[in-house]
Amino acid sequence: MHRTHTCGQLNINHLNQNVTLSGWVQKSRDLGGTTFIDMRDRYGITQLVINSDDEEGLRTKARELGREFVIKVTGQVVERSNKNPKISTGDIEIRVFSLEILNQAKLPPFMIEDETDGGDELRMKYRYLDLRRNPVRNNLILRHKMAQEVRKYLDLQGFLEVETPVLIKSTPEGARDFVVPSRMNAGEFYALPQSPQTFKQLLMVSGFDRYFQIVKCFRDEDLRADRQPEFTQIDCEMAFIEQEDILNLFEGLTRHMFKSVKDLEFEDFPRMLYADAMRLYGSDKPDIRFEMQFVELKNSTLPENEAPLLWKGGAEAGFPVFDNAEMVVGINAKGCAHYTRKQLDELTDFVKRQQIGATGLIYMRHNDDGSLKSSVDKFFNENDLKAWSAAFDSQPGDLLLIMAGAKDKVRKQLNELRLEMGNRLGLRDKNKFAPLWVIDFPLLEWDEESERYHAMHHPFTSPKPEDIALLDTQPGEVRANAYDLVINGTEIGGGSIRIHDKTLQSLMFKHLGFSPEEAQKQFGFLLEAFEYGAPPHGGIAFGFDRLVSIFAGLDSIRDVIAFPKNNSGRDVMIDSPSTIDEKQMKELCIKTEV
Ligand code: AMO
Repeated sequence: MHRTHTCGQLNINHLNQNVTLSGWVQKSRDLGGTTFIDMRDRYGITQLVINSDDEEGLRTKARELGREFVIKVTGQVVERSNKNPKISTGDIEIRVFSLEILNQAKLPPFMIEDETDGGDELRMKYRYLDLRRNPVRNNLILRHKMAQEVRKYLDLQGFLEVETPVLIKSTPEGARDFVVPSRMNAGEFYALPQSPQTFKQLLMVSGFDRYFQIVKCFRDEDLRADRQPEFTQIDCEMAFIEQEDILNLFEGLTRHMFKSVKDLEFEDFPRMLYADAMRLYGSDKPDIRFEMQFVELKNSTLPENEAPLLWKGGAEAGFPVFDNAEMVVGINAKGCAHYTRKQLDELTDFVKRQQIGATGLIYMRHNDDGSLKSSVDKFFNENDLKAWSAAFDSQPGDLLLIMAGAKDKVRKQLNELRLEMGNRLGLRDKNKFAPLWVIDFPLLEWDEESERYHAMHHPFTSPKPEDIALLDTQPGEVRANAYDLVINGTEIGGGSIRIHDKTLQSLMFKHLGFSPEEAQKQFGFLLEAFEYGAPPHGGIAFGFDRLVSIFAGLDSIRDVIAFPKNNSGRDVMIDSPSTIDEKQMKELCIKTEV
């Protein structure tokens, strides 16, 4: 028998019992003939002790132990004189009678401790060792718990978990596909699913009604902290529902997870129109843990009667940066009027970074004595500044940060600055959770590169019936029955009500620039299925990795994935992707010369 208990199980109630434990040597220290060994397994750490008056063979073996050796011990549970209140086994230790070395271990390349000396790359190369560390293991335990709670909740709600294939053809999510050559069909390729989108819609045609799957998806896109080339979705679809039903049910799922895993409860999740999210936060995934909403001083895309301050009557401000801009917009950083020149320069450098690309930043201090001072005093008098102060509702001590430019660009840039200020001011507390539904996304999005409209969500998303008429005249204005769940500024999930009517679906393909032949070639199976009695349906998919990392208070989803890829899409542990041999290439009909 390898063990009677685990290394996290024994306490004062087990005193005097004879036990057998197996695990890894965390560390071992010799204090004047007495050897103390910390023995670890998945459940915890137990202290072993071998005294100077123990038998010589046992003492010798204890001295041979190195870090991470795998051992098995039998001994008696005794009370410790030096208790450790930090661990559950801290009141006891094991007086060892016998010790067996089950396997030796090379010295690990980094310390297997909560705080390790191993860098990222090293830890990824030896991920199986990294996974022995508490923080990493705890993330996977959390992930497991959350997956169980998802299944529990959805099962109770009558959802059926159905597996869909992984070797499929191109899906409509808009990223690049990973492809797999087919040996039996020379020159042809499968694509890995970017999501099970088409299959879940087919399941609705089949009458499954409520489907879910915790499923791997694959997207060949540039990686970021919240993106992996393979990731996991909680993918769901329902028939005979409306948008409201989906929002309620999946708000219910999210609440259930928060309650069961973190014991947190929430009021109804707020809902925000996409258009308001862009106007007030410059983002379709606003972090509403803090306010700092945008205030527009100029917006020349609005009709004149709705024009804000600086644009009233098409007035010139006398300051070219503002006069030439489509939009002048800012935020009020409360309590930051004391920012030094250096701090303000830092912020200016921040927005001028290549990734953000602003040309500059204008500020106005609302000093403690009530006086107003801006970086553009040359162009604006006291009355102007008073008007700004009123527009931003600034108080003594506040700092206004203002940017100017083309509407979409400047909103994006100010969003970055707002988040940066949120970080600087400690307003983005990882233990605080602010869920939000963003609804009424546009159906279509203009793509500069291909100079045509693309589906913002995917081509099966239904337009709002009252907007269909706009498809021909103002396609960019058509709103969709599409929604995202955002938590703390991260897009956790997205979904939509689908088109279930063949004629409307064909019309959508037309507007997306698909010829009838192309549409038929790529999605003919779905269009055909729609002719056999497709029910009204819709769904949503949550990014499971993102949800777990938010629950864990982590910045990167890598930390909640057992074996993640690095930023170049490589698994440095198994060294993949890698070349394949000539023979295999031939079999797959892949030409070798470049
Ligand atoms: P969407 O493309 O919005 O919708 O994806 C749903 C959610 O999946 C997560 N996600 C990712 N997570 C990690 N790495 C990635 N590369 C990645 N890409 C997406 C996000 C996102 O919100 N079929 C539709 C859903 C539907 O309409 O029902 C879909 O896949 O959290």
